[in-house]
Amino acid sequence: MRVLVTGGAGYIGSHTAKLLAQSGFEPIVLDNLSTGHREAVQWGPFVLGDLVDSNLLRQVMRGYEIQAVIHFAAHAYVGESMRKPREYFRNNVVNTLNLLDAMAEEKVKYIIFSSTCATYGIPQEVPIAEHQLQRPVNPYGEAKLFVERVLPSRGALSSARPHPRRGREHGPQSGDWKRPLRARNHHCC
Ligand SMILES: NC(=O)c1ccc[n+]([C@@H]2O[C@H](COP(=O)([O-])OP(=O)(O)OC[C@H]3O[C@@H](n4cnc5c(N)ncnc54)[C@H](O)[C@@H]3O)[C@@H](O)[C@H]2O)c1
Repeated sequence: MRVLVTGGAGYIGSHTAKLLAQSGFEPIVLDNLSTGHREAVQWGPFVLGDLVDSNLLRQVMRGYEIQAVIHFAAHAYVGESMRKPREYFRNNVVNTLNLLDAMAEEKVKYIIFSSTCATYGIPQEVPIAEHQLQRPVNPYGEAKLFVERVLPSRGALSSARPHPRRGREHGPQSGDWKRPLRARNHHCC
């Protein structure tokens, strides 16, 4: 099965591509390298491109006969989202809608969307349970929550549901691909 990994040159996307390859899937990475690293793409083809480019998205889906998408490409800093909200809504919402449109046009039915605990805002309790109220307190969380709410209403994409075990424990680095740590000015992302 060929899986398009958007943002596959980034931190989580590159590890996901590796695991996909090790599990018998074929990861095709699309990334604009805005925060990603070309050398992190080692487990399948790399397409240098941006989610804003609808033609490219469709071409990649058709050319590689993509059957599913794992969507990591996004801006992912809470603090930065407070300073640059328009960029966050444009990249994390508008460009995601672009991706969903391309999927619908190319009849790619399955997507796993990487959301964030920032959709919950100030949590009522920790660890955050899935049923807690989602009240984001920054544009990053707002943008991700918007996409969560759009997904079920997207026709062929209506089967998209949160995985019961979504979320994870994570340290600053995992796996065997290392990169310099980046300062993150938020409690979680
Ligand atoms: N790191 C975490 O702890 C964490 C936790 C929860 C959710 N997430 C989500 O997981 C995803 C990946 O996070 P990460 O920490 O690996 O970040 P990252 O910055 O390392 O990876 C994001 C990747 O997306 C690419 N990208 C961004 N905009 C793009 C666009 N328009 N077109 C193509 N490529 C684009 C970047 O170049 C980068 O390689 C994000 O969606 C983030 O919101 C991350």
